[in-house]
This record gives sequence, structure tokens and C-alpha cells, in this order.
Amino acid sequence: MLVSPNLSDILNPNIDIKVFPDGESYVRVPGAKELSGKEVAVLHRLYPDPDKSIFQALLILDTLRKAGAKPALVSPYLPYARQDKLFLEGEALSSEVLCRMLKLAGAERLITFDCHFMKKEGKSVYGGLEIESISMGPALVEHARKIVDGEELDVISPDAGASYLVEGHGGKSMKKVRGDYVEGDETYRKIEKLEGDFDVKGRNVLILDDMISTGGTMLRAVDNIKKGGARRVLCAATHGLFLKGSLEKLKISCDSVFVSDSIPSAVSEVKIMPLLKEKGII
Ligand code: R5P
Repeated sequence: MLVSPNLSDILNPNIDIKVFPDGESYVRVPGAKELSGKEVAVLHRLYPDPDKSIFQALLILDTLRKAGAKPALVSPYLPYARQDKLFLEGEALSSEVLCRMLKLAGAERLITFDCHFMKKEGKSVYGGLEIESISMGPALVEHARKIVDGEELDVISPDAGASYLVEGHGGKSMKKVRGDYVEGDETYRKIEKLEGDFDVKGRNVLILDDMISTGGTMLRAVDNIKKGGARRVLCAATHGLFLKGSLEKLKISCDSVFVSDSIPSAVSEVKIMPLLKEKGII
């Protein structure tokens, strides 16, 4: 198993990644030639700093490919996975470009968690790359059940895309409608509508999504559930990017917020390691 320094919060790194004075990445995989003909799991995060981390992944994969190894890239969060649809003419299909690049660089397959465009657990081929998406859903629900200490818990997703996460827990999903891109240099499609007409009065509710990015979705969902008179509102997601101060805002607006350590954060309370071990990946 090879481990990048950007996973040193979980495992001891054995890949060298340094920076040249001009900011370019230096990568070395000591002992690469001994891996010739062997399958090897390569654990490397592609976030934060996605563009740089992706390029580092390409350097690692290419080095292993040239050494004759068969690398399976284990990247807990797959960036660009939300750019899997085109809205305007001439837009780049970033999710596909990324997967194709990883494949071309030498990835035999990619193992990730709750891959946004797959919208279910399992295996798929996308951009020519075999992808296995593992779901953190059950572990996140289990964690929420501990927090409510055995009391009843309703589990609701804030949009249809995350509905697979709530299957087996009542399967309730809110409806989210995004509008046009906002003006300016930052690309973001505003949320026009987010609604769900569920009876949550006096209930403990877990809102579960694949990711919290700007927090726009989760904050709207919390507001909706609180207006319905819920007793306790918990928010969870596999990936916590927590942009634009959203963690602080969520902490104020709900009773508990937690994510997995696919991306490290102050509320990464659910660990990916047990699942990677259980699936025989590491
Ligand atoms: C989108 O469909 C995803 O499942 C998330 O709901 C979304 O990406 C979260 O983004 P934000 O936190 O910016 O609303």
C-alpha cells in the first residue's frame, strides 16, 4: 500500500511529495520498481487544492505505470464530480476529463466514497475508468443514532441526487431546484427552491447528503425541517468541504453537524478506514 503525505492524519506516508521553489510538485515513489506486475492501492487525497492534488496523482500513477505496477487509486473524495452535466454550450465536462486523465496516467481503477455522479454505491465505468464508490451512508446514520441515544430518528435527504443514502431509512427526499449561474467570476448555480412536505413535528431528523460545499443546500434544508417543528435537527454528509463559513453557520442553526474524514475537518467524526479494511482495499 502506498500512502501520500496528504493522508498523514490517517496513515504513515511512504510517498515523497515536495514542492519546487516555483511551486511545482515533486513526486517520488521509493521502491516503485519492486512493485512491477503487482496491484497496489495508492491512497492520495484529491482535495483540498484539487488541481494541484490531481496533478500529483497523475505523477504518482505515471511513475507506477512506468515501473510496471497496477495502481488502484484510493481518493476518498472525487473533485469535479458535480460537473457531469453541461448547462451551457461549450462547457467542459470536467468529471469525465478527470477520470480519463487518471486512467491514461495509469490508474487501473479508482476507489472513492459517495461519488456524486454515480448516485449509488457500487461499480461503474466512467471516462474509461473503473470506479468503485463506497457509501458512508450507513456509518453516518449509525453515528446519528448514537447521538440521539436510541430515540427515534427520521432520515431525509435534501435532494433527489442523495436519495440512495436514505433508502432503507424511509426514503424521504426533499426537492431541490437550481437556477441559473450567479453573475461574476465564481461559478455557482443558486438554489431556487428546496422543499419537502414531511410531518417532522416533535421528531429527531437527520438530514443526509453526499457533500456539504457552500452549505447552501444544507442550510435551506435545516430551515425547512425546523419550520416543520422538528425536535432535534442533525446534519451529516460524506464529504465536508465547508466553504464560506458554512460549518459555523450550520453549528448555529442545527443541533449537530458531522461528516466523514474523507476530507479532514473539525467535525470529521466518522472514519473511512474501517470501511476500506472491510472491503479489503487496504
Ligand atoms: C448536489 O446535488 C449535492 O448533492 C449537494 O447537495 C451539493 O453539492 C451541496 O452543495 P452546497 O453545499 O454548495 O449547497
